[in-house]
Amino acid sequence: MDLIDLRNVSDLTGIDINMVDTNTLAPEMEPNRQLYFMAKSREYVKRKSEELGRNLTVHITTFGCQMNAKDSEKLLGILEKIGYEETDDEKAADFLIMNTCTVRENANQKVYGHLGMYQSRKKKAPHRMIAICGCMMQEPEVIEKLKKSYRFVDLIFGTHNIFKLAELVSLCLEERLEELEAQGREDKKPKHKMVVDVWKDTDQIVEDLPVERKYSFKSGVNIMFGCNNFCSYCIVPYVRGRERSRRPGEIIGEIKNLVEDGVVEVMLLGQNVNSYGKGLDEPLNFAELLEEVEKIEGLERIRFMTSHPKDLSDELIEVMAKSKKICRHLHLPLQSGSSRILKAMNRRYTKEQYLALAEKIKTAIPDISLTTDIIVGFPGETEEDFQETLDVVRKVRFDSAFTFIYSKRTGTPAAAMENQVPEDVVKNRFDRLLKEVQDISAEVCGRDVHTVQTVLVEEVNDHSPELVTGRMSNNTIVHFPGDASLIGKLVDVYLEESKGFYYMGRLNQ
Ligand code: SAH
Ligand code: SF4
Ligand code: F3S
Repeated sequence: MDLIDLRNVSDLTGIDINMVDTNTLAPEMEPNRQLYFMAKSREYVKRKSEELGRNLTVHITTFGCQMNAKDSEKLLGILEKIGYEETDDEKAADFLIMNTCTVRENANQKVYGHLGMYQSRKKKAPHRMIAICGCMMQEPEVIEKLKKSYRFVDLIFGTHNIFKLAELVSLCLEERLEELEAQGREDKKPKHKMVVDVWKDTDQIVEDLPVERKYSFKSGVNIMFGCNNFCSYCIVPYVRGRERSRRPGEIIGEIKNLVEDGVVEVMLLGQNVNSYGKGLDEPLNFAELLEEVEKIEGLERIRFMTSHPKDLSDELIEVMAKSKKICRHLHLPLQSGSSRILKAMNRRYTKEQYLALAEKIKTAIPDISLTTDIIVGFPGETEEDFQETLDVVRKVRFDSAFTFIYSKRTGTPAAAMENQVPEDVVKNRFDRLLKEVQDISAEVCGRDVHTVQTVLVEEVNDHSPELVTGRMSNNTIVHFPGDASLIGKLVDVYLEESKGFYYMGRLNQ
């Protein structure tokens, strides 16, 4: 059979990667170009596997948010096409990848700890490949440090070019092919080169690359990338670039394919989904997109993350209220309850506006579960400001709240603010906030006890294998007796007992 020259192919459906002609020049257009490099990299992986008498393995460590988790699924999809097999055993993997987060300093520190371990793994088996990517790589100081002190890393790339993984890997593998050819002769051994490719920003969205999903029955779906909000404490707009929305047709098409593949729940992902649709050729807002997604037959549940309060429209509340598929859960980050601090944070809403919005949502959708994010210790935060935050927490009564200690991120406006709050004061406020949040959450989360609720079963319980674990529409966790055959199914469960932030139940047959 003839080999396929990818430069001449417009529809990639059904292309057998083994039939790709890798002796031609690489195609210019995407995603054909990446498919070509997948085929090319595959040749090395095959040879090395034959030499070792086993498949080559890859392990990806992912830090950060759902966007990063989704990116890691894309990376794995590409690497599996190249011939790598995923392994849980980080110590033994032939290819180690770390997908980093830099939203707070502590996320950042974990990475250097991990790199130390990678170095010792590489000393034991020099053929090991080490790659590092994600949000932290978008910071020039980090790249400088890695180039200087972590020369053993093979590949560094950023958030804007993960679609290019196959091409970047093939650059690294070239060196390894040469090494195989040198057959151990020192004089012929190629010099180790570190491949670094980090883009400042992009307006490109490359569609139709392979993805390896972590769960068979649920999936994240990117609807937009980047963020334009520039909250004054936040580094995300600097490392993820400007806001770009995916075309509705691409999103709907992806979800339809997922449903055909057994997915019943999707999570629409974006840093600020409420501003979806800006800049599209055919304008469509987030509420309208949700209505389109709702129409997809076979899809049972729709979630989304994250909503910015300033852009949450009445239309969205209406669509949610009448929807049969949109889950009864809204994550609505508060950040602070003080209008003064909110202004300094550049959040563009006041305490009163937030409270009114929460009230409006609860009235329209009484069974909704509201969750939030709160930062304590933003520069200039006084005890009075902090009391305002506690006041909102008490008034809204969140189902749960992620609480964070403010972390200074270089390059953000807040980092240059003078009145940083002393550590002990912040710690004290943090502890008080956590207690308040937990006490309220224990009361609020138990409100459905002794009712029957639909639960999507996600996994067999780690600690008690006779139990399975799933989630209600409002995202609360339920454990109940069952087995692996239930995974991915929506079942009715009677909630026998509330344990604070989860329930114990039994199948309601
Ligand atoms: N786009 C989302 C949040 C992304 S980051 C939104 O706007 O809600 C997730 C959370 O991390 C934020 O909601 C915020 O509470 C927290 N966060 C971001 N930057 C931080 C910083 N510098 N220090 C502490 N927490 C921070
Ligand atoms: Fe950061 Fe604000 Fe954008 Fe969220 S909306 S990612 S907190 S800048
Ligand atoms: Fe972290 Fe990047 Fe997400 S900084 S929170 S992984 S967008």
